[in-house]
Amino acid sequence: MTLARAHTNIALIKYWGKKDARLILPYTSSISLTLADFYTDTRVTFDPTLGEDRFTLDGTILPTTKVTPFLDLVRDLAGRHQFASVSSVNHVPTAAGLASSASAYAALALAASRAAGLRLAPRELSRLARRGSGSASRSLFGGLAIWHRGFDDATSFAEALPAPKLDLAMVVVLVSAKAKAKASRSLMANTVATSPYYPAWVEHNQQACERMLQALAASDFERIGELTEQSAMQMHAAIMAGDPAFTYFQPETLAAWQTVQQLRAAGVAAYATMDAGPNVKVLTLAAHVPAVVAALTPQFAGRLLTTRPGPAATVLED
Ligand code: PMV
Repeated sequence: MTLARAHTNIALIKYWGKKDARLILPYTSSISLTLADFYTDTRVTFDPTLGEDRFTLDGTILPTTKVTPFLDLVRDLAGRHQFASVSSVNHVPTAAGLASSASAYAALALAASRAAGLRLAPRELSRLARRGSGSASRSLFGGLAIWHRGFDDATSFAEALPAPKLDLAMVVVLVSAKAKAKASRSLMANTVATSPYYPAWVEHNQQACERMLQALAASDFERIGELTEQSAMQMHAAIMAGDPAFTYFQPETLAAWQTVQQLRAAGVAAYATMDAGPNVKVLTLAAHVPAVVAALTPQFAGRLLTTRPGPAATVLED
């Protein structure tokens, strides 16, 4: 039995599109920030008396359609055949549209591999988590992480980046509590297959990773923020241009984005990003959090969450 915790992450330079859907190899590398307040706790027990895998999420028994293929990878690696019981508790507001797949698969990779007797190094764990959900490869690490796109299963892994000399913070704006209109997996594939802007996205986003590494090394927050906004906007531009046309933007998404622009015009360093849903995440410095929250409160009172960089995934019980 192992109980593990992994925190969710938000990409500053996005991952959008798979070159290999089975191995989950991305077209571009990506760079993310792990968050302190949102995480998943997962307990895995391999049990010789079980006739099939079991999965509960927040106390509710769910089908094992996503868990069993992942456990099969772990069983193959460990040379074991027992079924497992998996029980997860999400401390990520899933219903509020914050992605939990990153923390979920990172916690499952750590808990399941250890419960199966494996002791994987961080790089190997991130490769395993990647097979559940691409963004999960980055959630094994605290603070900033890069997922190198690589060219095969062995070379596509994430690792921690040195922390910049900046007191980073993130304000999450909950635009919609509804489940997202389209799952990222199928929309991603559709963007790759149909968006005329996708090749441009790949070229530019890969260069953006290099630029972001330079900006982080220089602790240049303005550049970090600009690159963060660009990567998100370019990803959403590629999505919009697909067939059928689609966008996650809602009127309130743009309203929040405009407030962030106004804050910047007033001298507050704040930059917006957005994932596969309408919520806006504002990257800022700890000193600016009160100003960011004050500017967003008139429209989003009760729908703002503030967080800081979070730690690496850990084993809580073994
Ligand atoms: O790992 P997935 O399949 O949940 O995809 C994540 C996609 C984005 O959140 C939009 C971007 C990212 O890099 O996390």
